[in-house]
Amino acid sequence: MDFSDVIKTRRSIRQYSDRQIDDATVQRVLDAARMAPSANNTQPWHFVVVRDAARRAKLVELASGQSFIAQAPAVIAVCGKCYTSQHSWIGANMYLVDVAIAMDHLTLAARNEGLGTCWIGAFDHDAVHAFLEVPDTHRVVILTPLGYPLKTDAFQPTTRRYSLDSMISNEKFT
Ligand SMILES: Cc1cc2nc3c(=O)[nH]c(=O)nc-3n(C[C@H](O)[C@H](O)[C@H](O)COP(=O)(O)O)c2cc1C
Repeated sequence: MDFSDVIKTRRSIRQYSDRQIDDATVQRVLDAARMAPSANNTQPWHFVVVRDAARRAKLVELASGQSFIAQAPAVIAVCGKCYTSQHSWIGANMYLVDVAIAMDHLTLAARNEGLGTCWIGAFDHDAVHAFLEVPDTHRVVILTPLGYPLKTDAFQPTTRRYSLDSMISNEKFT
């Protein structure tokens, strides 16, 4: 796909078909996430791919009952390894930035494959962490379903963004 079209038509998909995804496609999507930049090239991410139907249903329960998550044949938990203080130059732990970049690569690569995703931040962190047996060195930063959209016209460009003018200033913040 044209890069600009990938960017413009990546949308949060909340209805999925039951079409399965082959392993090679999942690998390509995750390989795009692997290419993300990170502070000191630390690459603090880890991806847990959940395909088992009962386990996907459990993730729905732990994510405020957002049932569309389990409609997709796979759910990916994007985990991050917390940094120590050297990566905290704005007072926040920058592993979150790095993991977010990887997740964005993932969503765009998925779109390029005709696959839908949806960032899921509304979940019970500690319960998902325990359920997926994530080590204490890592946190579960975000979840996403991964699947083919139910509707063929699901990838429509969004109109719900502020204008470019409203978010740019020159020389100083105005
Ligand atoms: C950090 C983060 C957390 C989000 N959590 C949820 C969520 O729990 N459930 C959901 O349906 N959408 C969630 N979203 C999706 C946003 O609602 C969506 O990206 C936004 O409305 C813009 O729509 P678009 O993705 O279709 O462009 C989340 C997005 C981000 C970036």
